[in-house]
Amino acid sequence: MATFKPLSPLFGVETFDVDLSQPLSDATFKELEQAFYANQVLALRNQRLTATQFLAFARRFGPPQPHVIDQFHHPDDANILILSNVKVAGQPTGLQDAGSYFHTDYSYLQVPARATTLYSRVVPQVGGDTLFANQQAAYDDLPDAMKKRIDPLMAVHQYGNRHDVNESSRTAASVLSAEQKAKMPVITHRIARPHPVTGRKSLYAVSGSSFGIVGMPDDEARSLLDELAAHSTQAGYQLSFKYGVGDIVVWDNAALLHSATLIDPNDARTLWRVTVLEESRDAVAPAVLASTYAM
Ligand SMILES: [Fe+2]
Repeated sequence: MATFKPLSPLFGVETFDVDLSQPLSDATFKELEQAFYANQVLALRNQRLTATQFLAFARRFGPPQPHVIDQFHHPDDANILILSNVKVAGQPTGLQDAGSYFHTDYSYLQVPARATTLYSRVVPQVGGDTLFANQQAAYDDLPDAMKKRIDPLMAVHQYGNRHDVNESSRTAASVLSAEQKAKMPVITHRIARPHPVTGRKSLYAVSGSSFGIVGMPDDEARSLLDELAAHSTQAGYQLSFKYGVGDIVVWDNAALLHSATLIDPNDARTLWRVTVLEESRDAVAPAVLASTYAM
């Protein structure tokens, strides 16, 4: 039996008891999976894994989906995205400054991410924490009138950060090539979204890829999304996760927002990332969207 220690009073746990370089029994994985769904952030400290071993662990949570930014896929497997500020001969070795704003992964896809797994390879001397904000607690604390108001609403999502669309900014979404942009759909998700596994409702992606609300004028929609984002990213809902070399963290994208924190670009940092998908639901027909939004 693994023991789990809380990472914060509200959510998140860590364990030092599991060595993922060894075969992982179904019983032990079940314990990890239960800890993951109960606590939303699961950290497995001090791992030493190959790319293949890391990917095999991530696959236990769901099917991996390669990131649209294909120039930084791991050479051994496209399911692994390299996040790094390290340059070799002046060339970047990974994606830098990714996700430095509150968002949840793949909320711009109709089938979004269930879990993101990060494997910390090189830790910077200063900073580099990931901030998580608990969207289940944020939803629970809303006044009943607000819960009623948002219950039927569908947010419109596309790749990007609605708070910063300047492509030269470090807190914009990572810039896509024209070809990558052409692959990105406009889709919808419920704002008050039941968790696909536990059924517990969360505020879903009210920061990040949500650019509008179906059937609502843009200014009204943005102002409601901004109000919900300001509420749901308050310090009381947050956990700041600090990486050690070899740490693996798995987080529940249906229950959280998260944000990277910017660091000195010369302070080396490298992580590997695998993102796994959940099941599809809650779609609005593309024809309805096309009549509401210029696509
Ligand atoms: Fe992210």
